[in-house]
Amino acid sequence: MNQQVAKFSRIGFVLSATGAAVGLGNIWKFPYITGVYGGGAFVLVYLVTILLIGASLLIAEMVIGKRGQKDCVSSFEEVAPKGKKGWKYAGFMLFTGLVIMTFYSVVIGWIFYYMYLSFSGLPTTIDDAKKIFDTLYAHAPFLQILFHVLSVLFVGGVLLGGIKKGIEKTNLILIPFLLFILLGLLVYAMNFDGFTQAVAFMFAPDFSKLDSEAIIRAVGHSFFTLSIGIGSIMTYAAVLPKHSNIYQAGMMVAFMDTLIALIAGLVIFSFLFQFGGTPDKGPGLVFVSLPVIFAKLGAVGSVIALIFFLAMAVAGLTSAISLVEPSVMYLEDRLKWGRKKAVVWSSLLYFAIGVLVIFSISDGYREFLTFGKKSLFDLLEFSVDSFLMPLGGVLIALFVGYVMNRDIVEGELLGHMGNTVFKIWYFSIRYIAPIAVLFLAYNALKV
Ligand code: PHE
Repeated sequence: MNQQVAKFSRIGFVLSATGAAVGLGNIWKFPYITGVYGGGAFVLVYLVTILLIGASLLIAEMVIGKRGQKDCVSSFEEVAPKGKKGWKYAGFMLFTGLVIMTFYSVVIGWIFYYMYLSFSGLPTTIDDAKKIFDTLYAHAPFLQILFHVLSVLFVGGVLLGGIKKGIEKTNLILIPFLLFILLGLLVYAMNFDGFTQAVAFMFAPDFSKLDSEAIIRAVGHSFFTLSIGIGSIMTYAAVLPKHSNIYQAGMMVAFMDTLIALIAGLVIFSFLFQFGGTPDKGPGLVFVSLPVIFAKLGAVGSVIALIFFLAMAVAGLTSAISLVEPSVMYLEDRLKWGRKKAVVWSSLLYFAIGVLVIFSISDGYREFLTFGKKSLFDLLEFSVDSFLMPLGGVLIALFVGYVMNRDIVEGELLGHMGNTVFKIWYFSIRYIAPIAVLFLAYNALKV
């Protein structure tokens, strides 16, 4: 089993879990949905959800991993009391990671392409920018496959190195680097008049803009951004030394994740307000609006664009690693495969479906890969957001709140949390989190 595997160091774990959490969700999705749903009030709901539900679930997921010390399926089995070992099937949430990777890796590929565009020529008008994005998205499947391959190879390469030499080392280098880049961009953006507008947009709540759809999106996003409900954090926590303080680690990760989303939002909106863009442009925000702004800044703009897309690539790749590791650890631990075989087969699986995902948005192939009104891309993303992740989240909450022996849970947390915080946390896991998740899933199905 896993016992002989080298453990994470304290900082190695916090940075790797931060790497898992901080991803495209923070730099691409958070700013654009904040823009679409009107700013301040949406951000407030998001912050409250992270604090009340997200952080609690994150810690709950860590409890299972840390007690189980194994792959997700075996951890559930190990921790479940006698007679409830059937809970091991909850561990199959680990496959959601591969499902996410089928499109996540494709989007990372787009970012690689934009890194290339940064110095080969950014679009100078919005129309050009739309054309470039549309060409990539709908008319260049083979180019997308090429960049998808690069992302698969990078992630596979890191995973081959194992926990210590692969995952921990990569995150120890890349996460401080990412923070450094984002802080640099923030300091640069602070010189703009647009910065004040960005602060007002993000932090002055206007509740008239908040409708139920905005609330659902905010709650849903808080799960996605903290990587809850697919066993990534559980798998990392399985490699923690015995006496680690998972309360502190969980709070650190939630804090860093939120901080980075807010910084990314401030940077992007400062540029937009300064140079005449609007925030409500949707998914194309960073691929269409921003490149045009960067192009206006000439050579400096190319450098900033490159740095910005590099930051996004780093954030995406460190998350991607955590999306595949649960499957790799499962194949190694449970099926006794060698690490290399496990990495190669998991990678091939999501790579191949990723190719179908690419064709599902490409002209000429789309009609073969559309189900109902949704392309394979949309269908997979939709099932992750509205079904697989909430399901994982609710299973974790129910397991820790009702199935696991309370003494064991207390043993992991009480000493670090103290009585009052523990009670609040336990209440959140038993009542608030499951209800919120069910509400989320129910509403998502109606949309
Ligand atoms: N949290 C990552 C992001 O914000 C996505 C992710 C989800 C990563 C689940 C791992 C597990 O992009």
